[in-house]
Amino acid sequence: MKSVFQGRSFLAEKEFTKAELQYLIDFSQHLKEMKKQNIPHRYLEGKNIALLFEKTSTRTRAAFTTAAIDLGAHPEYLGANDIQLGKKESTEDTARVLGSMFDGIEFRGFSQAVVEELAEFSGVPVWNGLTDEWHPTQMIADFLTIQENFGKVEGVTLAYCGDGRNNMANSLLVTGAILGTNVRIVAPKELQPDATIVEMATQFAKESGAELMITADVKEGVYYADVLYTDVWVSMGEEAKFEERVNLLRPYQINQELIKQTQNDQVIFLHCLPAFHDTNTAYGKEIQARFGLTEMEVTDEVFRGLHGRQFQQAENRMHSIKAIMAATLGDLFIPRV
Ligand code: CP
Ligand code: NVA
Repeated sequence: MKSVFQGRSFLAEKEFTKAELQYLIDFSQHLKEMKKQNIPHRYLEGKNIALLFEKTSTRTRAAFTTAAIDLGAHPEYLGANDIQLGKKESTEDTARVLGSMFDGIEFRGFSQAVVEELAEFSGVPVWNGLTDEWHPTQMIADFLTIQENFGKVEGVTLAYCGDGRNNMANSLLVTGAILGTNVRIVAPKELQPDATIVEMATQFAKESGAELMITADVKEGVYYADVLYTDVWVSMGEEAKFEERVNLLRPYQINQELIKQTQNDQVIFLHCLPAFHDTNTAYGKEIQARFGLTEMEVTDEVFRGLHGRQFQQAENRMHSIKAIMAATLGDLFIPRV
């Protein structure tokens, strides 16, 4: 019997029900336990997985690679400069060729339309490893981390401070709305989510009971939050916008003062990473030279402090990507969810 996941792509959270997303979170937790206990889980023995990256990556690439190997599959990295995609060959032709050789395809890049076209023409499951619009595999790891810390995702309040119209903000708002997690996007007017995303999330929230808030007011936005979340102020592909973002987002930096404003000692800090919390990066040094800032979206104190769970979250990328690949590509018996 085919499970509800078998053969499906994972392109955007909105295509999955609350029960399906919750199943993937729980399955990730189970696979994490198996890994910790050294119990083999080679559900994809003999499968070939293509990893397409138009943009750079540490976590997503490493997670797909190690997850595939643990599942008994063979991952093959195909970087932007290695293949013809987009330059000498259309997405449709590339999809047809890769689909005839690989059993599953991961794609990270700019356009959501490309990952959708790969799914349409490859005939195999395609997993979105981040586009300008969505970062769905990140969501399963993030909500797993929330579940590990609070025992549940429903009714937990997450405040995202920063660029409220990037892939992370979109994904957090919609995923939280589906799962029943209260999500607040705390961002200046210029960087608040698109009306269509807010409308979509509002519809999901009506079903789940999630409370959503879009606000420019930090105090209101973080009050009694359980989770403080941030992301880089400038996403991949937008590097020309540093000056504008630094000016707009300085008041939204997650620092000790902002932690205090939550009035919640138990608040946890999450960040999808990479993070600019010091000047130990090329961009960090450039920002210090241009704007005199030594930290951007999060201070080093918070990053290294008691509230930080970002490395637990990063590890969870592997367990959750494993769950997504095994559920959609394996022959596992998954009861109807
Ligand atoms: N969080 C995340 O997607 O990290 P990478 O860009 O390193 O893959
Ligand atoms: N918003 C960030 C997420 C990185 C994981 C970016 O797109 O660069």
